[in-house]
Amino acid sequence: MKISIIGAGNVGALSAMRLAEIGFDNITLIDIAKGIAYGKAMDIEDTQALLKMNYHLRGSEDINQIRDSDIILITAGFARKPGMTREELLAKNAQILKGISAEIKKLSSEAIIVVVTNPLDLMTYFVLKSTGFATQRVIGMGISLDAARFANLISKELNIPVNDIEPYVIGSHGEGMLPLARLTKIKGVELEEFMDDKKIESLIRKTINRGAEIVAALGSTSAYFAPSAAAANLVKAIAKDEKRVIGVCAYLSGEYGLKDICIGVPCRIGRNGIEKIIELELNTQEKESLQKSAQSVSQNIKLLKSLF
Ligand code: NAI
Ligand code: 2OP
Repeated sequence: MKISIIGAGNVGALSAMRLAEIGFDNITLIDIAKGIAYGKAMDIEDTQALLKMNYHLRGSEDINQIRDSDIILITAGFARKPGMTREELLAKNAQILKGISAEIKKLSSEAIIVVVTNPLDLMTYFVLKSTGFATQRVIGMGISLDAARFANLISKELNIPVNDIEPYVIGSHGEGMLPLARLTKIKGVELEEFMDDKKIESLIRKTINRGAEIVAALGSTSAYFAPSAAAANLVKAIAKDEKRVIGVCAYLSGEYGLKDICIGVPCRIGRNGIEKIIELELNTQEKESLQKSAQSVSQNIKLLKSLF
């Protein structure tokens, strides 16, 4: 199983490390910046003896090294700076992903692509359209990270183990994300049984702001520990054909009443990528919120189309 990671910055390199440490032994790390991928691949590989594991990584500036990959993780591009929205990254990162998509199409036409680059929903759509790959083979990672953040905040608030919480987040990985309190359960019991509406609303707000809060604290980079864990989880689910239900950014053609858009919804993930889009039973208010989230993504898709 050949896994290539394009972009060996914070998220890319840490994803490579996590994948190596869970047993993937054929990982190629690519970065346009001279020496970065090569140096980080050597550093990660040197860890083997200490961890008593065996894995091999290749690092290079040469994108040709991704040839015949089974799975490609795209983390190349600029990250948010303090005060910057994900949408502001749009034009800069689309330019980068245009070139990368063309190379993937040429070198690894059978691969499944996992997009991490922001603005996530738009970059997923852009890679899908630029490669012309089947819709189930281009997947965006965003709302599984948001769900993990929601679970962490609930766990801290209630002082209960995070593994007892089944969090639901749908919508865009951005200001329009929708942490779904009604569907979020603690050992099968609704969140509303554990806290009042005001507290739930405050945790939802904190979840939506979590990425920006981390950017503000770090100063010059955005989050990468949890994002790399979410990316590695998704790659593992594909590589190992886990058939797990994970929230991902998927192309919708009528599901949830939405068309020609990539946005976050729960999907069954396996060796073929998105094997099923799960349609949750949303109430009227949730449907309206999802429509609003989708409208903002669709507006930016129009902008994206006008740029290229
Ligand atoms: P970073 O700045 O540490 O790494 C980005 C890397 O991409 C750099 O090393 C750069 O040299 C490389 N790069 C740029 N153009 C390239 C090209 N054409 N080919 C190969 N490599 C190229 O940034 P970080 O923190 O790793 O974030 C990467 C992206 O992921 C950003 O757009 C960020 O906003 C996004 N992100 C998305 C998350 C999500 O949940 N979807 C979570 C965290 C980050
Ligand atoms: C995050 O949510 C920057 O999208 C990234 O942390």
